[in-house]
Amino acid sequence: MLPARGAWALGPLLRLLCSWADGLHHGMAQPSTWDRFYMQQATGGTPTHFNWFFDYAAISGLLLPALQEYGSPESNLSPMRVLDVGCGTSDLGLGLYRDSPHPVHISCVDVSPVAIRSLQWLLQEVPPPRHSLSQLHLHVADATNLEGGSFGDGSFHVVLDKGTCDSLLRCPQGPGQAGQLVAECLRVLCPGGILLQFSDEDPDARIPFLERVGGAGVTVQEVGHINGICYFIYKLSQPVLESPTKGLLN
Ligand SMILES: C[S@@+](CC[C@H](N)C(=O)[O-])C[C@H]1O[C@@H](n2cnc3c(N)ncnc32)[C@H](O)[C@@H]1O
Repeated sequence: MLPARGAWALGPLLRLLCSWADGLHHGMAQPSTWDRFYMQQATGGTPTHFNWFFDYAAISGLLLPALQEYGSPESNLSPMRVLDVGCGTSDLGLGLYRDSPHPVHISCVDVSPVAIRSLQWLLQEVPPPRHSLSQLHLHVADATNLEGGSFGDGSFHVVLDKGTCDSLLRCPQGPGQAGQLVAECLRVLCPGGILLQFSDEDPDARIPFLERVGGAGVTVQEVGHINGICYFIYKLSQPVLESPTKGLLN
């Protein structure tokens, strides 16, 4: 029996999509894979935001208060420094920059120059930030090796990772790089700073990994279900330094 008309049309398309997804899955640790991916997103000329999973609006109500609570800088006027690792063309960094009622200095980093070029283009469309001292900087950089530049030890209050560690963990050669990514995120955090990973990976798998590469004290919170998939926020904290005097008194 002949397949229905739709099935004829869908077969090659499905095969193409499957081979593309397979290529992406195997090449997620390769910058060239991501360049191709973001090039395809921008076809038709105009770059658009692409969120690997939920967008800024879905978590802004949770994220803005959390940033205030955990990443509190020295004073109300000193900007909170936030790093988004593997930002792609997500609207996360741009949204926080636009909406934060407190001054923020956001650095968005991606290994793909194509993604950063698109984000630069999209930044032109963003209205002025809510706080006049807020800044946003975009960088092409490898988040598994952030040495130098503005990424010295202890430079950020908060590091955000939405789907980047996930993508490295899922490709055959990636797990070692995922460990390096977590180590780098922790290195650039100041004492008391936090790393927030947004992920769809189950806590049974992610917590042991994070404890192995990042140390104890990992906490997890459910973000909720989106399109039937459950998402989580994993939090790792950089210990607060005890002052010698305080330590002696205690
Ligand atoms: C799954 S996507 C997530 C993108 C974005 N955070 C989002 O929510 O849509 C993973 C991103 O990590 C970037 N990436 C992969 N390896 C990287 C590395 N070593 N350093 C920096 N970015 C990397 C990719 O270019 C891609 O944009």
